[in-house]
Amino acid sequence: MSKVVCWAKPMTDAAFPTNPASGEPPESAIGLLIRDMEIDDLAPVYHLGDSLFTSDLYPYIYRTWDEWEVIGLYNTDPEYCLVAEIEGELAGFILGSIISKASLTYGYILWLGVNPAFQRRGIADSLVDKLIERLINDGARFMMVDTDPENTPAVNFFTRKGFGDLRRHVFLSMDLSQHPYYGRLITYEQEKAARSVWQRPRRRPNPKG
Ligand SMILES: CC(C)(COP(=O)(O)OP(=O)(O)OC[C@H]1O[C@@H](n2cnc3c(N)ncnc32)[C@H](O)[C@@H]1OP(=O)(O)O)[C@@H](O)C(=O)NCCC(=O)NCCS
Repeated sequence: MSKVVCWAKPMTDAAFPTNPASGEPPESAIGLLIRDMEIDDLAPVYHLGDSLFTSDLYPYIYRTWDEWEVIGLYNTDPEYCLVAEIEGELAGFILGSIISKASLTYGYILWLGVNPAFQRRGIADSLVDKLIERLINDGARFMMVDTDPENTPAVNFFTRKGFGDLRRHVFLSMDLSQHPYYGRLITYEQEKAARSVWQRPRRRPNPKG
C-alpha cells in the first residue's frame, strides 16, 4: 500500500482566480459560499467524508477517516476547517493544518471532499484557494497534501492546482489477530472464563429437603 505526497509553494494572491468583470471570486456566480466550519457542520461533514472515502476505492484513506478527524481538527485548527455551501446545502469541505518548524512553516491539506452532486464545478478549487490564502496570512510558505496514488481525480486536481514534486510514500500493515501476544491474550481469556465457571459457588444443600 502506498500514498502520494505532493508539495507546492502556495500561490500568491495575484494567482487566485477571479471574475475579471467584478473582481469577485467565481464562486459568487454559482451561489457558492465558502465559510468557516461550525458546530452544526460536524456531523454532515463526517457523513459526507464517510461516503467519499470508501474502503473499496482508497483503503488507507478509509481507515483513517473517523469522527475524531473532524472533531479533533475543529478543536485544534478551526481556522483551517472550511465548508462550501450552495443554497444552504453542504457541497464540500476542507480540513487543514499549519506546521511550524524552525526553518519553515508549511500548510497541510488533511482532508478535502466535494459532494458528487457538485463535483467538477470548481468547489474544491475555491476551498483550496481560501485555505491557502489563510495559510499564507499565517506565515506558511510551503504546502503539502497526500492521497492514494489510485485516486486519479485528486491527483489530477492537485497537479492542476500547481502541486508537484510527487513522491510515493509506502504504507505497511499487519494483521494483529496473527500476533503471538494476541494468541496469548485469547488463551488467557479462555482460561479465565473456564476458571470462573469452575469456581462458581455451589448451592448449599437445603436441610428441609
Ligand atoms: C478530488 C475532489 C475533491 C475534486 O473536487 P471538485 O470540486 O470536483 O474539483 P474542481 O471542480 O475544483 O476541479 C476539477 C479538476 O479536478 C480534477 N478532477 C476532478 N474530478 C476528476 C475526475 N473524476 N477524473 C479526473 N480528474 C478529475 C481535474 O483536474 C478537474 O479539472 P477539469 O474539470 O478541467 O478536468 C473530488 O473529486 C472529491 O471529493 N473526491 C473524493 C474525496 C477525495 O478523494 N479527496 C481528496 C483526498 S483527501
